[in-house]
Amino acid sequence: MGEIILKTNNLTVDFKVKKNIFGKPDRLSAVQNANIEIRKGEIYGLVGESGCGKTTLANAILGFVPITSGSFEFCGHTVDAKTKPAEWKEVRKHMQTVFQDPYSSLNTRFTVWQLISEPLYIAGERDERVLRERAASLVEKVGLSLADLDRYVFEFSGGQRQRIAIARALITGSEFIICDEPTSALDVSVHSQICNLLLDLRDEMGLTYLFISHNLSLIKHITEHMSVMYLGEIMESGATAEIFEKPACPYTEALMSAILDVKPKAGKERIILSGEARSPINPPDICRFATRCPKACDICKSTPLPAPVSVGTEHTARCHLIGKEGK
Ligand SMILES: Nc1ncnc2c1ncn2[C@@H]1O[C@H](COP(=O)(O)OP(=O)(O)OP(=O)(O)O)[C@@H](O)[C@H]1O
Ligand code: SF4
Ligand SMILES: [Mg+2]
Repeated sequence: MGEIILKTNNLTVDFKVKKNIFGKPDRLSAVQNANIEIRKGEIYGLVGESGCGKTTLANAILGFVPITSGSFEFCGHTVDAKTKPAEWKEVRKHMQTVFQDPYSSLNTRFTVWQLISEPLYIAGERDERVLRERAASLVEKVGLSLADLDRYVFEFSGGQRQRIAIARALITGSEFIICDEPTSALDVSVHSQICNLLLDLRDEMGLTYLFISHNLSLIKHITEHMSVMYLGEIMESGATAEIFEKPACPYTEALMSAILDVKPKAGKERIILSGEARSPINPPDICRFATRCPKACDICKSTPLPAPVSVGTEHTARCHLIGKEGK
């Protein structure tokens, strides 16, 4: 296994939202004590329903939203709420992103070579010849042609735009790429092309990805390790194959039962969740899934969610039931 490239330590992000009747801002708990470890060269999956905090966790790592508490380690730096902008800048040099919607993330007034080379320009390179040459060196790698360099983004399909966005992410030589739903805004017919491109580039250029997706089948097929989030908390983490084989947390079990080709155990039916999802605003210090969990018991509603425990060779989960019910 490769060395750890990114490690979060109880990373927490709260947003202050509208003031309550006492004039104090409410706390929206978007990410609570998240701990993940990503190894060099791997694809690490992050899954969970909409609003569970996947993008916020990525944004905290990228410095797009402030860290409330906790920290992360990356490329020899430890980053926390007190990290100075100069050190942040140094850390950010080694990370890039591919977002969900390539159209809104690309400036329509730029030509392809300008779009691809823009991160290099921002990093200080001003020689147009160098910028164009660097863009040209990547454009074919992502499946476009040299003739595309002088075209504009509106002349391309969604899948081609995402190829431009991927070339942009690679131009500064960053080895760690955060892909936030990179295929979900695209036509289904191009999903596998974009995924195959990301896989090929990973192998060819030694990249590491944090791959955020709602698509569990995709996560199953392309990631080596993964974490499952529910309302800001990481419920289960570890080797993807082990988690799909034997999910330990009832939330993961329910999530996986919802897709046809990855039922956790043969013969198991889809688990339909009832009950209201808890609000992320000022949540009580108990399992956040308790209001919908089909296996919730008294302890779940009165006692904080336990710390992660080992449930396999490379597999941890948080749930009061672990160690009981044969789990
Ligand atoms: N800037 C912000 N200010 C206040 N609340 C925010 C902000 N950004 C995100 N949130 C809230 O934080 C929570 C997590 O949002 P986030 O976008 O990280 O979820 P997600 O898992 O990426 O969802 P999706 O799958 O829909 O992209 C949500 O309740 C969201 O409303
Ligand atoms: S701790 Fe309780 S409520 Fe939470 S997932 Fe486990 S059984 Fe369900
Ligand atoms: Mg998101």
